[in-house]
Amino acid sequence: MPKDQEINIVQDATKHPMPPMTVPQSQTPTVTRLGLDDGYADTKLALADGRLLAIPSRARLGQAGVTWMREAEQTIFEYETQGTIYSAGAVDGEPTHFDGYVTSGLNRVIVQHALQSAGLAGQTLHLVSGLPVRAFYRHDGQRRTEAIANKCDNLKLPVRPFPRQGKQRPRPILPASVAFHEVIPEALAAWYDYVILTSQEGVSLDADRVNAPIAIVDIGGRTTDYVVVQDQGVVHGASGSLNRGLLDVKQQIAQGIQDTFGLDSLSEQRVAAAMTHQSIRLHGKAHNISELIQIAQGELVERLYAETRRLLGQGAELDRVLFVGGGSAALAKEIANWFPNQQIIEQPAFANARGMLKYLQYVCEEQPNYGR
Ligand SMILES: Nc1ncnc2c1ncn2[C@@H]1O[C@H](COP(=O)(O)OP(=O)(O)OP(=O)(O)O)[C@@H](O)[C@H]1O
Ligand SMILES: [Mg+2]
Repeated sequence: MPKDQEINIVQDATKHPMPPMTVPQSQTPTVTRLGLDDGYADTKLALADGRLLAIPSRARLGQAGVTWMREAEQTIFEYETQGTIYSAGAVDGEPTHFDGYVTSGLNRVIVQHALQSAGLAGQTLHLVSGLPVRAFYRHDGQRRTEAIANKCDNLKLPVRPFPRQGKQRPRPILPASVAFHEVIPEALAAWYDYVILTSQEGVSLDADRVNAPIAIVDIGGRTTDYVVVQDQGVVHGASGSLNRGLLDVKQQIAQGIQDTFGLDSLSEQRVAAAMTHQSIRLHGKAHNISELIQIAQGELVERLYAETRRLLGQGAELDRVLFVGGGSAALAKEIANWFPNQQIIEQPAFANARGMLKYLQYVCEEQPNYGR
């Protein structure tokens, strides 16, 4: 794309031009750029080398208390941040769906674990992440500057990975550190992904897509986000967040299994596995739970349908209704015929992370702070 081509994408109802879209000069060779969609269910990374990675947003307070005989078999990893120790990986995750999650130590550790899993130990990062639309904007369209700044600052706080254990001496692990972090509304990231096209020939802006009125529905774990973009501005009256998502289905299924089989407790990892296999093994016997899953999903779909119609109506004035988020993959059959002009984006769980990376690479002005 020519460097002088400008994109005037705005995030507020009152338009203000964005800086020109330019391919960034490599300021420092060691900087790694990525889009980070640190969701309540899964943490997704989009890396400039084309890799897309997702890990469950799963960690808990305290040390694992496990000694690994062989480093290759280590599945639980420990981290320290602000004097508190956490375990991440194959642990029963603490619930992430609480209001302060995005500014918590739990969030920092899960993100650091995702970065380590992507092989980014010791690297200096420039990244863009997101907040749900209602956490980003007030109802009048003003940005929630304090909440945005708090989220930005949170990931700049240090997280120290504990040395990898093995039969030999423990091997120290360097943290990945964040030098630049900007936050954008989550579903709007998917819009950037849709309008900025990358191919082997280069980067271009799809003018038809930029000018058309488009709705994005991001079905996530805790939230379902709606953004309508028209004339390169967010239409706040038709945008918002519903506090419903696939984690509600998970919670309902956990409760249903416990009630059906008279269990006092059920680990988060077992519920996740039961949902994947549609079955749970108890007292040596497999039990089919597909009906429980169907009922829980059905209730969520009903709520989503009502909110979608409330915000978007029949969608007649919209050029396209784009479904993104992992929930769009999980509920693909159920949401298949809501609008004649709808589309489930390819690899929908990664649409936001891809858009965040494109925003970082081609739209925003990077002002890194290398002081640690
Ligand atoms: N390809 C897939 N098929 C089926 N389910 C999927 C797929 N990808 C993701 N999911 C599920 O969709 C759910 C929502 O995923 P997503 O990553 O969009 O949530 P999130 O971004 O973490 O949540 P939130 O947006 O509320 O913070 C998760 O429970 C995930 O397991
Ligand atoms: Mg999400």
